[in-house]
Amino acid sequence: MSNARPPHSAPLKLLKLLAAGLALAVAACGAPVEQRPGYPGTFMLAPASPEAGRINDLTWLLHGIMTVVFVGVLTAALVIYRRYRARAADQRGRQIFGNTRLEVIWTALPGLVLIFAFAISTSVMCDVQPAARAVSAEAIRVRVVGHQWWWEYSLPDQGAVTANELHLPAGQLAVLELVSADVMHNWWVPQLQGKLYNIPGHQNTLSFTPAEVGTFGGACGEFCGLQHAWMRTRVVVEPPDRFTAWAQEQAAPAREPGTDLARRGQALFQSSTCSSCHYVRGAAGPVGQEAGQALAGPDLTHVAARATLGAGVVENTPENLARWIRAPQELKPGNLMPSLRLTDDEVAALTAYLSELR
Ligand code: CUA
Repeated sequence: MSNARPPHSAPLKLLKLLAAGLALAVAACGAPVEQRPGYPGTFMLAPASPEAGRINDLTWLLHGIMTVVFVGVLTAALVIYRRYRARAADQRGRQIFGNTRLEVIWTALPGLVLIFAFAISTSVMCDVQPAARAVSAEAIRVRVVGHQWWWEYSLPDQGAVTANELHLPAGQLAVLELVSADVMHNWWVPQLQGKLYNIPGHQNTLSFTPAEVGTFGGACGEFCGLQHAWMRTRVVVEPPDRFTAWAQEQAAPAREPGTDLARRGQALFQSSTCSSCHYVRGAAGPVGQEAGQALAGPDLTHVAARATLGAGVVENTPENLARWIRAPQELKPGNLMPSLRLTDDEVAALTAYLSELR
């Protein structure tokens, strides 16, 4: 037996490894991600806007090309391996170094594939994200401020401010102005549009027309610190009349507390550190910053109407709200909210007050 012959199992092992890798990759981008109760799944391959549809078509086309190249190269490698492997220790293959024709072919072919992929990608990028899109009176304008680690949404035309949960009307162009209050973030709701950076001191504009009613999950796509993974967001696309009702609710002043406990909570909110970072529009007494400016903490005017707390960390229930107020660093270590060392009674009062802010 000649020892020049390579072991047979090597290509088989490689093939198994590649198959496993491919299966993992497909599973990673295809499976809906449902990490916490009450949180929408993100199915990247189910576009819900024409823009995301174009990106999805491009994804399939490029993966098709890659599959043809991958299978072609692998098949050729296996055929060549079987047909031309050395059958004796001293056997040498034909030397083709310097063969101009061959070198031109194997340089030009991949080059053409890359040029085609570049051209088609650039064309889709220009279509789905034009440098300037005429903002008609119909368009919904949203200012999206990235914070460590939550999203501030304000709709200047509707006078609404909220956090982490954005509602949009189906069939109407949405124009998002992306900025940041601290470091670089990246707003990404894959079923609606491609991702785009929130950059400190610079405004990016992202636009799309949601086509389907539904709730779409998203996340921050740029590493921005300890809780980058818990900078989730949700976009609720609804019929225009439902959206208008939502925007009016969000723009309205906060409701006054209805119970004694909630009234104690309101007084505590206004007299303690809470109001130096958070804002409750319409509440008497000291408030944080003016609406429209970047806030230090989320606007709480209608906090109880949101589905999650801590940008997706937990469902928004009175129990979780109390947990958050008592020990914010336990649920989301590193976030800017300090533990105020409140008594159980104070936590109960604040929870009662904030739970009424629907
Ligand atoms: Cu913000 Cu990652």
